[in-house]
This record gives sequence, structure tokens and C-alpha cells, in this order.
Amino acid sequence: MTSRTATDEASFYSNAEDYWKEISPTVDGMLGGYGSISNIDINGSKTFLQRFLGDGEGKTGSGCALDCGAGIGRITKRLLLPLFKTVDLVDVTQEFLDKAKTYLGEEGKRVGNYFCYGLQDFVPESGRYDVIWIQWVVGHLTDDHLVDFLRRCQKALRPNGLIVIKDNVSYEGVIPDEVDSSVCRDLNIVCSLVRRAGLRIVHQEQQKNFPKELYQVHTLAIR
Ligand SMILES: C[S@@+](CC[C@H](N)C(=O)[O-])C[C@H]1O[C@@H](n2cnc3c(N)ncnc32)[C@H](O)[C@@H]1O
Repeated sequence: MTSRTATDEASFYSNAEDYWKEISPTVDGMLGGYGSISNIDINGSKTFLQRFLGDGEGKTGSGCALDCGAGIGRITKRLLLPLFKTVDLVDVTQEFLDKAKTYLGEEGKRVGNYFCYGLQDFVPESGRYDVIWIQWVVGHLTDDHLVDFLRRCQKALRPNGLIVIKDNVSYEGVIPDEVDSSVCRDLNIVCSLVRRAGLRIVHQEQQKNFPKELYQVHTLAIR
């Protein structure tokens, strides 16, 4: 890597950190002013996840989940804590994790760990998680860091564990967002990065009923 590339990469991450430090620790802040879509999002995720959970051969357990790029814990509160005994959160913005401690209320007692890390640096504990949920954050990682993070996630799964990526996808190619210092990739690119990590897509869906002006959102179950 040339020093110029290293500098670009460093500013890609530091600009994103600076952006999120200025965002209010609310559901609206997490969703770029679209707090009103949170219910539709969570209900879609619940239906998606439930097909993998339950008793029986090959089913994913309900012991421990990891919420990646968790923010204030919007997904932890409404999706993960109701389905899993323990949930860990990881996010690069300390202020959001601090807010999560009150936002999650009583049920927040079942949070195991609040990890303040960039996903590019985070090493999840080996064999700890039934589900690793990664939503609206993969665009903040470079291709190589995303691939490496997914590899580490695979090692962190329990038997029959599942990684879920839910994110915006572009119509074609990689669209940079200079405001929050992220990229939006098309579905083929995301799928090829997943495969590069040595993982397999076991199910894939488009989230329905989001406002037309937003990017399409796809949910991928991988292991
Ligand atoms: C669009 S918000 C989504 C929050 C949450 N996933 C949700 O759907 O409610 C993006 C989150 O990613 C976090 N983030 C940005 N870059 C990150 C990185 N490199 N590693 C970990 N978290 C990051 C931000 O602090 C913010 O909480």
C-alpha cells in the first residue's frame, strides 16, 4: 500500500468517526432522519431471523447475539434482546454506547458487553455468538477490512450460528457518500466480498415497504 492510500484510508475512518460524533443519540439520528421506518425495519428483520431460530436439527441457538455498529442499540432493544438471552454491542462512537445504557431500559441488564471499537479493529470472541447482526455499517469499512471482519465473525460463531448483513445496496457499482464517509455497494459486490471471506449466502431478501427515495435495502444470511 502506498502512503497516499494509507492516508486516504485513515481519513475515510476518521471522517466517519467525526461525522457520527456530531449526530444526536436518537433513533432518528441512527436512521438519518428516517426514524419513522424503524418499525417496518424491525418487523422485517424479525420475520427474516425467525426462520433460522427455534428447536431442532440445524437451527440457530438463542444464547448470545452481537449487534455490530449498534449505535444506541435500536436493534438490540427491539430485535435482539427479545430473542436472545445475552446481547453484546460494538460501535465506534462511545456516546452512542453510553446512551444505550439508559435507552435499553430494564432489559439492558442482559447486555453482556459494550465494546467501543471500529469493526476494522474488533476481534469478536471465538465461538461466542449464535447471531452476529451487521446493519447499516458495512459501508464504513473498506473492502479488505470487511472481508477480514467477516472472517473473524465466522470464527466467533457457535455451531449453526449465523451472520446477518442488512444494508443499503446501490443499483450499480460503488457510490461514495462524502457526508458520512461511507460507500454504498451494489448487491453483486457485497456478495462477492462475502464469498471472498469464505462464507456462503444461505438466504437473501429485499426489505419491503421502505420509502421509494431510499436505496434498496437487502438482508443476507451468511455462514
Ligand atoms: C446508520 S447508524 C446504524 C446504527 C444501527 N445499526 C441501527 O441500524 O440503528 C451507523 C452506526 O455505525 C457506527 N460506525 C460507523 N463507522 C463504524 C466503524 N468503522 N466501526 C463500528 N461502528 C461504526 C456509527 O457510530 C453508527 O452508530
